[in-house]
Amino acid sequence: MGNIAIDGPAGAGKSTIAKLVAKELGFVYVDTGAMYRAMALFMINNNVAPDDSDKISATCQDADITIKYENGEQVVFLNDENVNGKIRNEEVGKMASSSSANGDVRKKLVELQQKLAKSTDVVMDGRDIGTVVLPDATLKVYLTASSRVRAERRFKELTAKGVECNIDVIEKDIIDRDYRDMHRENSPLMQAEDAVLVDSSDMTIDEVARRIVDLYKEKI
Ligand code: DC
Repeated sequence: MGNIAIDGPAGAGKSTIAKLVAKELGFVYVDTGAMYRAMALFMINNNVAPDDSDKISATCQDADITIKYENGEQVVFLNDENVNGKIRNEEVGKMASSSSANGDVRKKLVELQQKLAKSTDVVMDGRDIGTVVLPDATLKVYLTASSRVRAERRFKELTAKGVECNIDVIEKDIIDRDYRDMHRENSPLMQAEDAVLVDSSDMTIDEVARRIVDLYKEKI
């Protein structure tokens, strides 16, 4: 059984790359951020304040989060409802950044992630996959890019959608979010000791995917 763990900061291209690598190797792609987002949606639906950690701990016990695959795409279910269309927005992203710092939320979702990785070969991306979820992964990658490059990528995405935005503001948001992710008490974002650092600042998507596939093949 081979597993690939990909961790790194927001906007480094983890999900795009992880999907390509999974396709190339015939592995299942597991997007753990989507699970934290589904949990955040549950908090919003139950009017839980982002700073009320006791309420977050209690409320998360009533959230049943499961994953299915439809036409090769991961679908997240929250208490039997497909929530894929409801979790990719700013409101949910903001709540996820608070609720994912909660130890009880993490315990519940880490268990689900570990169960998935036991049943099949996975490429799993997140913040703590190499450090906590899959400490014995065959290959661990820490994928990053400079804050400027990540801001430029996000700027292009938003501009293509017709959203007016300012690149300096985007970059500042990215730097703030990195700081929060790297300094939280529970499972802070960090490079696992045995992870390979891949900086995608000057690489194309295909180059990064090829590098990770090659690294994996060297390991087996
Ligand atoms: O990667 P993303 O933006 O979809 O992640 C949503 C939130 O969940 C983000 O605040 C980071 C957090 N997260 C986490 O704490 N651990 C993971 N393994 C994946 C995501």
